[in-house]
Amino acid sequence: MHLFLLLILQATAAIGQIDPAHCRYPLGMEDGRIKDDALKASSQWHETTGPQYARLNREEGHGAWCPAAQPSVSQYLEVDLGRLTFLTVIGTQGRYIRNSGNEFAREYRVNYSRDGKLWKSWRNRQGNEVNAYNSVIKDLRPPIVTRYVRLLPVTRLSTTICMRVELYGCSWDDGLISYSAPEGQRMQPPGYPIANLNDSTYDGVHERGKLFGGLGQLTDGVIGQDDFTRTHEYSVWPGYDYLGWKNDSLEHVEMEFVFDRQRNFTSMKVHSNNMFSRDVKIFSSVSCWFKPHFVWEAEPVEFRTVLDDRNPSARYVTVDLNHRTAKSLRCRFYFADVWMMFSEISFQSGNKHTHVQTKVQNTSVTPDDGKTPILIGCLVTIILLLVIIIFLILWCQYVCKVLEKTLIKQALVFPTACGGGYAEPDITQCTPHQCFHSNAPHYAETDIVRLQGVTGSNMYAVPALTVDSLTRKDISAAEFPRQQLIFREKLGEGQFGEVHLCEAEGLPEFLGEGSPLPDRDGHSVLVAVKQLRADATSQARNDFLKEIKIMSRLNDPNIIRLLCVCVSSDPLCMVTEYMENGDLNMFLSQREIESTLTHANNIPSVSLSDLLHMAVQISSGMKYLASLNFVHRDLATRNCLLDRRLTIKIADFGMSRNLYSSDYYRIQGRAVLPIRWMAWESILLGKFTTASDVWAFGVTLWEIFTLCKEQPYSLLSDEQVIENTGEFFRNQGRQIFLYAPPLCPPSLFELMMRCWSRDIPDRPTFEGLYQALKPHVNQS
Ligand code: ADE
Repeated sequence: MHLFLLLILQATAAIGQIDPAHCRYPLGMEDGRIKDDALKASSQWHETTGPQYARLNREEGHGAWCPAAQPSVSQYLEVDLGRLTFLTVIGTQGRYIRNSGNEFAREYRVNYSRDGKLWKSWRNRQGNEVNAYNSVIKDLRPPIVTRYVRLLPVTRLSTTICMRVELYGCSWDDGLISYSAPEGQRMQPPGYPIANLNDSTYDGVHERGKLFGGLGQLTDGVIGQDDFTRTHEYSVWPGYDYLGWKNDSLEHVEMEFVFDRQRNFTSMKVHSNNMFSRDVKIFSSVSCWFKPHFVWEAEPVEFRTVLDDRNPSARYVTVDLNHRTAKSLRCRFYFADVWMMFSEISFQSGNKHTHVQTKVQNTSVTPDDGKTPILIGCLVTIILLLVIIIFLILWCQYVCKVLEKTLIKQALVFPTACGGGYAEPDITQCTPHQCFHSNAPHYAETDIVRLQGVTGSNMYAVPALTVDSLTRKDISAAEFPRQQLIFREKLGEGQFGEVHLCEAEGLPEFLGEGSPLPDRDGHSVLVAVKQLRADATSQARNDFLKEIKIMSRLNDPNIIRLLCVCVSSDPLCMVTEYMENGDLNMFLSQREIESTLTHANNIPSVSLSDLLHMAVQISSGMKYLASLNFVHRDLATRNCLLDRRLTIKIADFGMSRNLYSSDYYRIQGRAVLPIRWMAWESILLGKFTTASDVWAFGVTLWEIFTLCKEQPYSLLSDEQVIENTGEFFRNQGRQIFLYAPPLCPPSLFELMMRCWSRDIPDRPTFEGLYQALKPHVNQS
């Protein structure tokens, strides 16, 4: 967080063009950003008074740096700031060691070096080498551009002196390490005070009318005023802020700029006076040459200014440097009038903005090579990206939720026609569009044949079979004399009908030779008779006939078999084989897994092998349905029947028995959906396919291996199951899967999990399931 604030601070500084008055940030002596190895001293009194203890307000060691010898200007504390720094303030303290010491330096000098080799003495604005201060916080006027600083304590008394220090300033990102120029001149117009336009803070060499190897007023951060005779500093002379030249002795002003490293220059800004009433104007043109390595390039960049005789304001003139690369620049400025005066020069290189007048403040000693503006750009971009991403995520979540709710609503108001039964996937998949057309209550009327909608909620589906076209000749099952059906008991009941156990007299003879006979109870043949109520709607009646039509086409050892029908008169009946052991759910829920305990206590039990055999049979029946492109839509243990020999046959009872009503989710009293067995796409999109049957098969397996002792997702309410469906759809790892039943072999649970793959192609086929399950039977 601290770092982040520092970055923000730096960024703000760069944008806000901070001047030396604001560039007063502690550089890291006190808070340790300046490391011990950046501190050196000419000597130390004791190892506990080494330079590493010269930190303002810190009491480590013996509380300060104390040199070994009697202080003289030869003793120094050296700080390596790690990079070029615009140093504006020095703070010093003595040694107090918890109030027991009072050694301090009343005075000290400041030396500095940009490269660690050439050392210079700091001078005040008057150009005097001042050797002593007596204040604790001292503003450096002028500030220094430096990397290395030496403080040299001075005392006239023969006492021990100690120092603790903080340095203040900001990073010097320009990278300009020296400029050369002709010496500034004096203006002595009659009737005006003399203006001395020299570079009085220049810290390089003055030789034969030339300045070289240093920095000075053009980089001190002070912009000259419109009237060049007025100054920002007190007790300085007129023209102090400007470096100025007259055209009588010079054809042009040539300056050379040397940088710390090669840079790609975009522009140069020259702050110039334009007081034309005193014969001063900005330059008329400038030519700059570039030295990338050792040789000057021949081709200069030339720039012509637009002269202004109306506005006498001093101003920055921006010179385009065309992205030329160089470590040194030589520029020739041409006069537009008698005088030319500059107060600041700055360079913009690469995507970095360097400005001699405005320094980027810095509270870190890590070199950044002027990357602050890049940093700002990155920070702003990152923040913007984050905001956009957060917005998109929230928006997506919102849209997904709304979409999901709409789809769920649509899927759930879906009438029973789409709610179950067998369907041909490619032709008669329920889609919201098909199912919710405003004038078509449900597409069953045109596309789907309802089969067990009478006694249950489910149906089989076949394409393009209309109600009107369905007649007796479409039904291939034979008409059985209803008086030969002798009622024994009621097996189940639904909204439009009942299922009875009946004795079918003469059925073997009726069905004829070669026809597989149902089991016999002694001499009589027991059958299940599904019968439509006399008061059933015409819709239910048609669905009943369609169910018969489809069932009469199915012929598989693991699918319940239609034996005959009674449709020539009411009530309509269909006769199927009778399954003595009832449905698989009831069967398993009343049993325990086989063990010595179940044997000893005669508890009804099943073996693991029985369970696997059941799984194989169901997969086989489903494989058959899938091969005919029939979609069941309600595969579950409650819809699998068992005969005496534990052969399983898939049937479809839907709501024919109120017993399992909690397995169906009812919406507004209309649709009933087995949501706990349904794939996400069936719930959300109303899409039923063989792949969604595979999903249901996975849940059926899970039921088998929990011995139907628990409803799937028993801890979730119906609403939570639907929410969980949304998670299956989003597939972000938040969906709740059914747990691995303890009885279930791991490889089998893996198979179940594959059935619940979010992506349809990742789910196994029934053929694959059958092949995978079959070998387990013999192994167990
Ligand atoms: N309940 C409904 N149909 C049945 C059948 N065919 N056998 C046994 N019980 C049933």
